[in-house]
Amino acid sequence: MGGVNRPNQPFRAADFPQLTVVEHPLVASKLAALRQPAVEGAEFRRLMSDISRLLLWEMMRSFPTRDVQVPTPLGTAEARELDAPIVFVPVLRAGLGMLDGMLSLLDHATVGHIGLYRNEETLRPVTYYSRLPELDPQARVLVLDPMLATGHTCVEAIAQVKLRGGRHILHANIVSCPEGITEVAQQHPDVPVFTATVDTRLNERGYIVPGLGDAGDRLFATF
Ligand code: URA
Repeated sequence: MGGVNRPNQPFRAADFPQLTVVEHPLVASKLAALRQPAVEGAEFRRLMSDISRLLLWEMMRSFPTRDVQVPTPLGTAEARELDAPIVFVPVLRAGLGMLDGMLSLLDHATVGHIGLYRNEETLRPVTYYSRLPELDPQARVLVLDPMLATGHTCVEAIAQVKLRGGRHILHANIVSCPEGITEVAQQHPDVPVFTATVDTRLNERGYIVPGLGDAGDRLFATF
């Protein structure tokens, strides 16, 4: 599933079979609104929730189901039910912005938390909190972090999920960039990645350009 490493070549999403860019017009228009600096507070959180729900829809396309028969007012229907436990793992703190929207569709899911911050000099992740359940090998584990920037945080979060027994791991972000996608593809080629956009690049401070700024600050109004 790993991507093709083509140093100094322009990024091509097609080189990364584990990557799905969800290009639905509804996602695109909500993302256009989310990016704008004037959008703040409740509106920013609502847009991030909406996009997260739409990403979840796409991520679950290949989840296992079992055939069941269910009663209806007029008879019995052949139907399908989800057949794997679902675990959300938001990476604190910005990942929390993706959680509520997804839980609104899957309220029986389990939630684990990983707290990682970026050392602003090295841009390497530092773990300050980890509370993950023991993972059923059949569980579909969704690691949530809205910004896939250097990829270091995401790579570390996925590694921690694997150590807890996660076997079917997926990553969802809202804004990604070539650097982050390449890093995840190299370290975790088995993990499907879903994003609403691949932006141009990282700047020298590790922010995605054009991106949307600091997602955590915008979610929680900490400027
Ligand atoms: N984290 C953010 O919140 N924004 C970025 O652009 C990169 C990392």
